[in-house]
Amino acid sequence: MSIIESNLDEKRSFSPSKHSKGNANLTKEDLIKLNKQFHTDNNKTWADLANTHILWDKNFTNVVSGEAPFYKWFSDGRLNVSKNCVDRHINKKNSAIIHIAENGERRVLSYSELYAYVNKFSYALSQLGLCCGDRVIIYMPTIPESIVAMLSCARLGLIHSVVFAGFSANALRERIVDCKAKIVITVDAFKRSGKIINSKDIVDNAIKVDCDFVENVIVYENHASLSDKKSRDLVWDDILPTCDINVEPISMSSDSLLFILYTSGSTGKPKGIMHASGGYLLNCILTNKWVFDLKDQDIFWCTADIGWITGHSYVVYGPLACGATILIYDGAPLFPHSNRFWEIIQDNKVSIFYTAPTAIRTLMKVGEDEPKNYNLKSLRILGTVGEPINPKAWMWYYEKIGNGQCPIVDTWWQTETGANMIAPIPGINTLIPGTCTSALPGIDATIVDVNGAQLTQPNQGGDLVIKKPWPSMLTGIWGDDERYVQTYWSKYSSKYYVTGDTARYDENGNIWIMGRSDDVVNVSGHRLGTMEIESALVSHELVAEAAVVSYKHEIKGEAIHAFISLKNNPKNKNELADILREWVSIKIGSIAKPERVSFSDSLPKTRSGKIMRRLLRNLARNERVTGDTSTLENESIIDQLKEIV
Ligand code: WTA
Repeated sequence: MSIIESNLDEKRSFSPSKHSKGNANLTKEDLIKLNKQFHTDNNKTWADLANTHILWDKNFTNVVSGEAPFYKWFSDGRLNVSKNCVDRHINKKNSAIIHIAENGERRVLSYSELYAYVNKFSYALSQLGLCCGDRVIIYMPTIPESIVAMLSCARLGLIHSVVFAGFSANALRERIVDCKAKIVITVDAFKRSGKIINSKDIVDNAIKVDCDFVENVIVYENHASLSDKKSRDLVWDDILPTCDINVEPISMSSDSLLFILYTSGSTGKPKGIMHASGGYLLNCILTNKWVFDLKDQDIFWCTADIGWITGHSYVVYGPLACGATILIYDGAPLFPHSNRFWEIIQDNKVSIFYTAPTAIRTLMKVGEDEPKNYNLKSLRILGTVGEPINPKAWMWYYEKIGNGQCPIVDTWWQTETGANMIAPIPGINTLIPGTCTSALPGIDATIVDVNGAQLTQPNQGGDLVIKKPWPSMLTGIWGDDERYVQTYWSKYSSKYYVTGDTARYDENGNIWIMGRSDDVVNVSGHRLGTMEIESALVSHELVAEAAVVSYKHEIKGEAIHAFISLKNNPKNKNELADILREWVSIKIGSIAKPERVSFSDSLPKTRSGKIMRRLLRNLARNERVTGDTSTLENESIIDQLKEIV
């Protein structure tokens, strides 16, 4: 069986409104011209864009070089990413950062204040005897200081690795050890949902044994004064110079590493995804301008934590390199009340809002009609990322948050791709709930069958691959070239970058992501993407979230087990299970009917909101739950699920 069947049929579509067409950074004419240019001369087009959008210290002559798949972009060019993000905007009138704390405190930094701060902290770091290429772990919440730390590393040619502040000591340790970090930057503590998280204690635990290579821990006193100061500890404010000081940004080669970001593989140890400087920055800038239509007067709120790639590309590097204003919220979405997001948008006149389907579904669950009590008129573009968005959530986002006026940019990309790859351009693409539409200019994405042949017919699912290298692609996995080649390039004899996702085209050439390739079930010889079944389930009014996996079945080969969390507790679960089976059968066909249905309070999710189907597969198949569970948002749910399955 070489293709995956698709049974999802979404008929609603939304043509670009006049409102979203006016004054766009990328018009339809520009897009047509650009696509033509890429078609005629791919490398020259990337080179022209890099020359236009990046401030180079030394111009490049090489566009793409290196031995496949170890590509290098603009390799003989030199630049400094921090200079691109800060120095070139110091005279701008708009603010750089608006920071909202969980307790509601608001702090605003102009570009010149950000410049002064980055220089001061760069000076402090430069006094610690570090060399270009040394690794620095940043284990902090999303506050201005963590952004200052990232930009200061970039200024000095230090490679940062931001670790999500919600990770455990074990997860943190694994990352510190893997990249042999010389410095860890953290906070004493921070608050989440009103609860104190003692980050510094977690760091101390993480490096308690066999971590002598960590020379210093720098602590920003975010909550209180640092107690229990160890000899290697330095307090942020103590090492900051008291007067303004300028630290010359180091001119880095374009292919020198900017950062490592760990992503958990489905099994085994996390992968340290490496990103270099010039190429990464280019796609960040372009996609912020094209997909989000980002302008100086916008207030861009991307809700991602800086510990994720979305936080790197759409909170820090992309928007700042464009000289725009970012809003960061350092708090929980539902604290102290479930309308926190809408309140922040209203009070700060946010114009671009970018979040994840899991957040949208959560907010829908807690207050479907609440947004109408807030003035959300400042919004002009809405974005989503991280998972396929089910049409029901899409419609709610479009109607209740965007008031039917704001295009939704459903952006498909990965930690590895560095920036958006497949996404609509507002004002150009017709939107259909659930599709991320088409590949961006210069991105050669296609869908292939198991033999690597391009699928041309609509509604046949296959592997989503990228045929040509692109500037912001990962440059490898830290310390593991073989795993890099094996994971991303080996499946189709090194011809394509293999995304690990499955997808299909519809009749209009739109790309629909069907899920990860491991998330495919094979029922009676029909390969079905689990995402479509999940989407059908969550379109039922009682269902909040659904995850579907398969288990071995004597007759069907594989049968479907649906894990479901509900909006409210039903009276009769067996009856509801039957209703939902029938529902799927009407929506998709009886082939997709779940054999088993389990109800639980929530589903096991990663900290970035992705459902860990791997764990559910273990449970459905009566296997031991294997692999790393330390990055789970709600570890205790596994015990609850074990009881009911
Ligand atoms: C999934 C997040 C459908 C996909 C930027 C991908 C999506 C993985 C979308 C990468 C989308 C991301 N529609 N699926 N718009 N965006 N994904 O590395 O499976 O955290 O491979 O990067 O998320 O997740 P990562």
